[in-house]
Amino acid sequence: MRSTVHHSALSIHHSALVSNSDIDEAVAILKRGGLVAFPTETVYGLGADASNPEAIGRLYAVKGRPAAHPVIVHLASVTQLEQWVREITATARKLAQQFWPGPLTLVLRRAGGVADALTGGQDTVGLRVPSHPVAQALLSQFGGGVAAPSANRFGHVSATTAQHVRDEFADAVELVLDGGQSEVGIESTIVDVTGERPVLLRLGHISAREIEDAAGASLAAPNEAAPRAPGGLAAHYAPRTPLMVMEADLLLELAASLIAQGSRVAVLARSALRPLLPGLEWITAPADPSHYAHDLYANLRLLDAAGCQAILVERPPQGMAWAAVNDRLSRAAVGSREP
Ligand code: TXA
Ligand code: MG
Repeated sequence: MRSTVHHSALSIHHSALVSNSDIDEAVAILKRGGLVAFPTETVYGLGADASNPEAIGRLYAVKGRPAAHPVIVHLASVTQLEQWVREITATARKLAQQFWPGPLTLVLRRAGGVADALTGGQDTVGLRVPSHPVAQALLSQFGGGVAAPSANRFGHVSATTAQHVRDEFADAVELVLDGGQSEVGIESTIVDVTGERPVLLRLGHISAREIEDAAGASLAAPNEAAPRAPGGLAAHYAPRTPLMVMEADLLLELAASLIAQGSRVAVLARSALRPLLPGLEWITAPADPSHYAHDLYANLRLLDAAGCQAILVERPPQGMAWAAVNDRLSRAAVGSREP
């Protein structure tokens, strides 16, 4: 997979869809404690002023998120990092240098003033400098940190377009900055860099190998002392329709038998050819992992909205290039099951 995501340089036109006055309005909303959804190159974030505990409270309420789940603080530049952490470790420096701005979140020991509300009471804070030009414009003009979880209701599929965000929250969010479709399409890679060796807390577009190469150290396994990343919960990223991941031959068999019983079936295929059956909602996903990830949440949302009784996903290949996609699919499968 590509390790960097290139956007056209920040210009007065942050994006065809967002004007300077939209950025002004977004900054004003954040300053008065309101919520603004904004694009990043991974997924859309739902942002609040990270130095305002009331705003963070509102953020958790709107998202429906339990208070113990820490949230990522977004910064315009690596130069702001020292305000948020006690120590910038050598590994943090190397990874920030290589991947920021970009789809990487670093977990470090938090500085004194960092609110409990951001960290779930843990001693660490998650920080990210995104590259999307609209996020960059918002963050640099706002000046401070913006706390932003993915802009979806807790446990649900993340949003990769402004419309997805509106579908999730309707009027509960004051402003959605529309920066087009997120380029990466899945959430940032999260790395705990508090210790000598990096610990991978969440898979993403930046692979384990790339993290090891940039850090000059092999990954350490997470242990009990490692920070919790509840996004690592087994059930997450889930559509409302039950989702199952399986091989193509089994998928075709199951689709046919469900349809014979009168069900409608949604399919996210890769290699399987669409059979001539009624009651089938069929999407053929891109063949390579980057494009597959780019389209994944939009595809799941389309299939989820099709009124089917099941979503059957053809299992992608195994291996490192597909690890992040397979991670999201397996959590979506767990999360979509009835408790
Ligand atoms: O790509 C992304 O990371 C997006 C965009 C908006 O930046 N954000 C995102 O946020 O995915 P959220 O809240 O949906 O997931 C953040 C993950 C959670 O799994 C959380 O547990 C973990 O980051 N996290 C945040 N702070 C942490 C900390 N101090 N220690 C361990 N995990 C942390
Ligand atoms: Mg999330």
